Amino acid sequence: MNGFKAGFVALLGIAAGIGIAQAAPPPQVAQCAGCHQANGMGNPVAGFPALAGQPTEYLEGQLYAFKHGTRRNGIMKSFANGLSAADRKAIAAYYHGLPVVAPASLPAAPTDAIGATLAMQGADIGTSHAIPACDSCHGAGGLGIAPAFPRLAGQPAQYLENQLTDWQKGSRNESNLHLMHNVAVLLSPAQIKAVAAYFAALPPVAKPGS
Ligand code: HEC
Ligand code: HEC
Repeated sequence: MNGFKAGFVALLGIAAGIGIAQAAPPPQVAQCAGCHQANGMGNPVAGFPALAGQPTEYLEGQLYAFKHGTRRNGIMKSFANGLSAADRKAIAAYYHGLPVVAPASLPAAPTDAIGATLAMQGADIGTSHAIPACDSCHGAGGLGIAPAFPRLAGQPAQYLENQLTDWQKGSRNESNLHLMHNVAVLLSPAQIKAVAAYFAALPPVAKPGS
């Protein structure tokens, strides 16, 4: 290969690399920013969950579930309805790729140990009502484990409470072996409040590990 040709091929390679690094966000995410914010970190005050850094497969699965009604939420159904499988994949990969930014302020940690104990040790272990430690699936510090277990750390407390009660009511019905449904139905209202407050106060310092 002569020098000119080699240089040209190298330039093409660089251009392709830049193309990947600067891939335009999927067009739909402009709409999502109104609630989930442009940085994907959600809105703790309004109770909109952070999407940034969450496992791609998890996000894709939720968008599918909102569209097909296994996760029932009126707001999100209207946004998910128009998305094709390819759109869901692109949007999920985009949010997964955004860095996790710890919010400027987090709610204060609860003063009781109910949530921390549930998270790290579970409750009633050894009985027929055994609640497994949340962190055994969601990872240390509630940071999540890809591909199936989302980060809970730093999500709005009200959002976390809503999810747990949605599983109890049957309006969230994930197909993932019903792992989370089986946990949620064991929780009392007081445990739900406590564990939601516990995870909401933990800093979201990293992407879910794997
Ligand atoms: C008007 C506000 C609003 C807009 C705009 C919006 N969302 Fe949401 N989103 C919500 C709310 C509220 C929830 C929580 C729903 C629930 O409680 O189940 C949510 C939840 C989600 C979840 C589930 C997160 C999780 O941790 O399980 C995903 C994924 C999501 N939205 C993606 C999107 C995408 C992609 C768009 C743009 C196409 C979008 N949202 C636009 C309000 C919004
Ligand atoms: C056996 C594994 C397992 C255990 C233990 C577990 N979870 Fe989960 N959790 C899951 C899975 C799987 C999902 C994702 C469900 C889906 O795909 O919709 C999930 C999702 C969640 C969500 C939804 C997050 C979001 O962004 O919408 C919340 C909230 C949650 N879990 C709270 C808890 C709490 C609190 C505990 C402890 C009391 C707990 N989990 C224990 C497996 C588990």
